[in-house]
Formats: sequence, structure tokens, C-alpha cells
Amino acid sequence: MKESQCLIIGSGVAGLTLAIKMAEAFPKRIITIVTKAHESESNTKYAQGGVASVISEKKDSFQKHIADTLLAGDGMCDPNIVEMVVKEGPERLRELIEWGVRFDKDLHGNFSLGREGGHSEYRVLHHKDATGSEIERALLQRVHALDNIELLSHHFAVDLILESHPLHASNTPSACLGAYVLDQISGEICALRAASVVLATGGLGRIYGHTTNPMVATGDGIAMAYRANARIRDMEFIQFHPTALYEEKETPSFLISEAVRGFGAYLRNTNGERFMLHNHEDAELASRDIVARAIHAEIKKEHIPYVYLDCTHLKTETFKQKFPTIFTNCSRLGIDVSQDWIPVVPAAHYVCGGIEVDSWGRTSINNLFACGECSRTGLHGANRLASNSLLEALVYAHRIFRYHIKQDLKSITEEPPQWKQNKKSGPAEETILQSKILELQQLMRCNAGIVRSTHELTTALKMLAMLRADTEILFERHTLTSTLCELRNMLSVAYLIIDHSLQRTENKGGYYNINYSEKINTLV
Ligand code: FAD
Ligand code: SIN
Repeated sequence: MKESQCLIIGSGVAGLTLAIKMAEAFPKRIITIVTKAHESESNTKYAQGGVASVISEKKDSFQKHIADTLLAGDGMCDPNIVEMVVKEGPERLRELIEWGVRFDKDLHGNFSLGREGGHSEYRVLHHKDATGSEIERALLQRVHALDNIELLSHHFAVDLILESHPLHASNTPSACLGAYVLDQISGEICALRAASVVLATGGLGRIYGHTTNPMVATGDGIAMAYRANARIRDMEFIQFHPTALYEEKETPSFLISEAVRGFGAYLRNTNGERFMLHNHEDAELASRDIVARAIHAEIKKEHIPYVYLDCTHLKTETFKQKFPTIFTNCSRLGIDVSQDWIPVVPAAHYVCGGIEVDSWGRTSINNLFACGECSRTGLHGANRLASNSLLEALVYAHRIFRYHIKQDLKSITEEPPQWKQNKKSGPAEETILQSKILELQQLMRCNAGIVRSTHELTTALKMLAMLRADTEILFERHTLTSTLCELRNMLSVAYLIIDHSLQRTENKGGYYNINYSEKINTLV
């Protein structure tokens, strides 16, 4: 058995930022990061637009950023948390810059700020259209420079180790003692014990198949916390990014950043009409839920699987400079952005809900924290404001760190139980697992997408019950592999999305059920 002072699951912006802070403050203690793929693979790595923050109050203000966040969240944000995150943001950004993250500047040396949907001001700091990969690069570099961080890549966290099994406990939450972790190379499962455990496992876009998220985004942390009886909230609020590049087979989908619309690109239907002008006064820069639903309606009306993003009126040289990754990717497909419209379609992008945490990142289970996209802090409400999630992860990593400084790191006395290896029949067939994943993705796209209905949700719940029962049998009988664990986790988070959807009785932000409300996006 291995022992660590702090076990962090996930190596995106949330996990890495926290690890650096903890390792620097507690140089004699070991901070362990486990991550299930290559160390850099994460949603973070693909972030394009940037980090929203009020770095100068000359034109912008905290009040404006707060108001924009609350408006996007459609009445479902926690206003105290919004204020806290917005106001603590600039300090976290300064820290990132000190750690070597290079945000773009203009000719006068001022930060060049982008704008995205739902923002009333230019306030998004970015590194061209590859902000996430720049952040990930700088954080990993710093992590590797710290001796007391142990980074275990290709290690898959299977389940949390709990002080007492939740089914035997009363309503009081159990303490978390660590996690069972599968070494994906050796196939061994070991119990990693830690004084505190942090879930920083990111999102779940892969359950929709059609997503901007990479393959690792399977909702593992949320599923683990759910199995441990932690409180989970707001899972019905899935954000669909309006403009993923349309490619028949490509998965994950390549994102065309909202910053491109912030730079002036237009959305057009097949007749060339700027349909967003009829949908919202902010047109292409309305919040994501509104734009995604409007595109969905156009697609249904026109019976073709995409609309267009028109950049032909923009300065090509500046476009190339600002969005080199997007420019190159479009060129690769033969799309010349100076002449051709880009085919785009909404794709699952972000989960606004997740593991409920307080303002210190504490879950409802002692010693268990959650940070970043897998957590539900109250910042996003029913619809996240663009570029607020990297900010949230930075602010909460710092708050979890501060909590540990205040409390000091405890040590654990109880010996956690070893993983019970009762599997007999070798690994389950990969083709069976993959076909179940495809079935789940099809179900989620059709029955729990941008526009839902109670009938489709209820049908999905029944089909999911069967898929989950089959998968539990596989889980009991077979040697564990990461695919089997991911399938099981994806089914759990899909269940949570559908269950929470069925509990909602009005439409809010990213949740839209045709059986409720007349609320349609029209200006008239
Ligand atoms: P992630 O960065 O996703 O990291 C999760 C980590 O956990 C990964 O390392 C993963 O391998 C690991 N992991 C997961 N499960 C397990 C397990 N069982 N065992 C071990 N390890 C595990 N947000 C913005 O604010 N601005 C943007 O411009 C922006 N652009 C985006 C563009 C794209 C294409 C995408 C997909 C997202 C974008 N977002 C953006 C959202 C933002 O990137 C994410 O919300 C944020 O990066 C999440 O960070 P995280 O650290 O919580 O999770
Ligand atoms: C984008 O660049 O459009 C993504 C921004 C985000 O998801 O916050």
C-alpha cells in the first residue's frame, strides 16, 4: 500500500494548479497526482478562447462580469460564489503569469482581450487559440520541477476508499481514505491512501459521442462520488457549444472558438441568412444555450446537419494570427476561411453541474474535495458563461489549498481495505464494451440533447436501466480494464443527467424540455 499526503485525481488545470500550491507549501510531504492517460491529456489542453477576468477596471468592472455570469446562469447561480470567483480571479491570473503562462499582448504591451458570447466587454485573456495547451505546458513544467510531486500517468482511479461503506452508514457522510487505482500498464489495482483526496477529473462529453471533449472525458470523478453517496447537483445542465466543426466522422469534434464570433464572424443558414438576428438582440454573441438552440432549430428546419460560420468579411491575415490552429484545421479540410463558409454544428461541451462543493471545495464527504469541471460550485447555474471554467478551476484550486493551510494536513490511522479481486473470466471483450458505448451515445444524443421531452427522457431511463444492469454483470465477472470502468461511469453520469432532467419542472438556461414553458428564443 502506498501513502500520500494529498491524492489528486486528474492532471488538468484544476489538479495541476492545486498540486503545485500544495507541494510548494508542504515541501516535506508527498503530493500524488494520478491521471489516466498521458499527463497532458485533458479538456484543459484543448481550451481555445481563454480565461475570463477583469484585469483592468478602466472600461470593464467586477460588477459587469458578475452581471454577465448571473444572466448566462439564468437565475440558477449562487450570487455569493459568482462574486467571490470574479473578484479572486485577477490574482489567480497574475499567479499563472508568474508561473510562465504567456497571454497575448497588443503592440502597447497591454493584454489583448477577446470577447465571447454573453460577455458585455472584452475580458478574455488568451494565448492565440491555444490557451489551454499553453496553460497545461506551463503547469506541467512547474510540476516536474517540484521533487515532492509524484505524477503517475496511465493510472486509472477506479473507486474511492471510504471509511465505512455508504450502504452501512447512516445519513452521515463517510470519510474518504484514498482511492483504488488501476495501473493501466501492469493491470494491478492498488489502494492509494491519502490524508485528503481531490477529484479533478474534468467533464463527461464523451457520453454524447458528438463532443468537443477528448476521449478521457467520461465523468469518472462524478460517477465515483455518486457511488460514494456524495451529493451531486444540476446534472441536467449540459452545455452544447454552438460551433463545433462539422465533419461526418470526426470524434471528438474540433472546436471553432466562440472568440471567432467575438472577432466578428456571422452564423448563416443554408439560404445565407444571419438567423441569429431574429433570435436575440446580441445575435451571434448571445449566450451559448440560446445560440445552440437556434442552430438546432435551423438544422431541423433545413434537414441538413449543419449551419455555416462566415468569416469571409474578416481580415484574413489577422484571423490567421489570432486563430492559427483553427485556420490550419480548416485548411486541412480544404476550407479557405477567406472564401468559404465553415460548416458548424453544436456539440456537447461542458457539464455545468457535478459534485456539490462548498466555497472551500469540500464535498459532502469528509476529506474529499472536488475541483474544476467535475465540481458544482454554484458559479455557472444553468449555463456557464464562456471562459469562466478555467477561472473557476484556478480560484477553487487556490481555495482548497488555503483550506489545507488553515487545517494543516491530517494523517490517517485507519488501514483501508484492499481491493477485492473476485474477477474470474479475464477482460470483457473490447468490441462488446465499444458497442455498449455507442448505444449509450446514440441514446444520449437522441433523448437527452439540446431539446428534450419528458417522453424521450423516460424512455431513455428505461433503456439505461438495462444497459446498466448488463454492465454491472460484466463488472462483477471480468478483470477490470479502463474501458469497462469508463463504460460503467458513463452509464452512471448519463443516469444522473436523465434523472435530474426528469426532476426539473421548468426550462432554465441549458435545460430545455418541449413539455414545459413557452420560452423560445425569439426577439418578437
Ligand atoms: P480536465 O482538464 O478535463 O482534466 C481532467 C483530468 O482528469 C485529465 O487529466 C483526465 O485524464 C483525468 N482523469 C479523468 N478521469 C480519471 C480517472 N478515472 N483516473 C485518473 N485520471 C482521470 N474553458 C474556458 O474557461 N475557456 C476556454 O477557452 C475553454 N475552451 C474549451 C475548449 C474545448 C475544446 C473544451 C473541450 C473545453 C473548453 N473549456 C474552456 C472548458 C475547460 O477547458 C474545462 O472545463 C477545464 O479545462 C476543466 O479542467 P479540469 O482540470 O477540471 O479537467
Ligand atoms: C471557446 O473558445 O469557444 C470555448 C470557450 C469556453 O468553453 O469557455
